[in-house]
Amino acid sequence: MNLKMEEARTVSESKTEIAQLMMPPDANPAGNVHGGTIMKLIDQCGAIVASRHCHSNCVTASVDRIDFINPAFMGNVVILKGSLNYVGRTSMEIGVRVEDECLITGAKAHIATAYVTYVALDEDDNPREVPRLIPETEEEKQRFEEAKMRREERLSRIPKHIEPKEGPCIQRPSKIKKNWYS
Ligand SMILES: CC(C)(COP(=O)(O)OP(=O)(O)OC[C@H]1O[C@@H](n2cnc3c(N)ncnc32)[C@H](O)[C@@H]1OP(=O)(O)O)[C@@H](O)C(=O)NCCC(=O)NCCS
Repeated sequence: MNLKMEEARTVSESKTEIAQLMMPPDANPAGNVHGGTIMKLIDQCGAIVASRHCHSNCVTASVDRIDFINPAFMGNVVILKGSLNYVGRTSMEIGVRVEDECLITGAKAHIATAYVTYVALDEDDNPREVPRLIPETEEEKQRFEEAKMRREERLSRIPKHIEPKEGPCIQRPSKIKKNWYS
């Protein structure tokens, strides 16, 4: 489905929840889940939200600071709740809340919250316009305003000198890519 970019969509239309059981490869020998496991899941959850909103190929542009405020443990379920906070012309800020749940006791803990920015790309890998966001609830409206301020701060920190990529890369799964835009 190709969305018309002038279309506006609500936060609830792209809201995403992932639940994943933490297994031995996800943790250290003491059973603490690796920070990298959580970061990968945050990126996956955010990418689903972004692509659900704009139905395009989306890439991670930046991840704001992540603090792990409680540990997650092997054998528990890690739950990620992602939703759109703010949409610019081609970029989207997604907030992902991570919780750990003990399946035996039902105890839950807040592990981390991250703000991840994705940019939608067209078939030539140029940033493309995304549908506007309709914040409906008071909470969504507040998150929208807060995300707007974070965006200003984030963009002011982007390095001024960016090295251009040297030459084309042929390692692209072009058949998969073609399907995004068919
Ligand atoms: C993200 C990327 C597409 C931006 O390209 P660019 O040429 O700088 O694009 P523009 O300057 O036109 O900016 C496009 C949008 O990205 C936003 N943006 C650019 N760099 C950003 C950053 N570091 N953090 C947050 N947003 C950023 C801009 O604010 C703009 O948003 P808007 O349209 O909503 O106003 C480009 O840097 C890229 O391809 N990066 C690699 C992404 C990737 O592969 N990620 C996976 C890890 S390898």
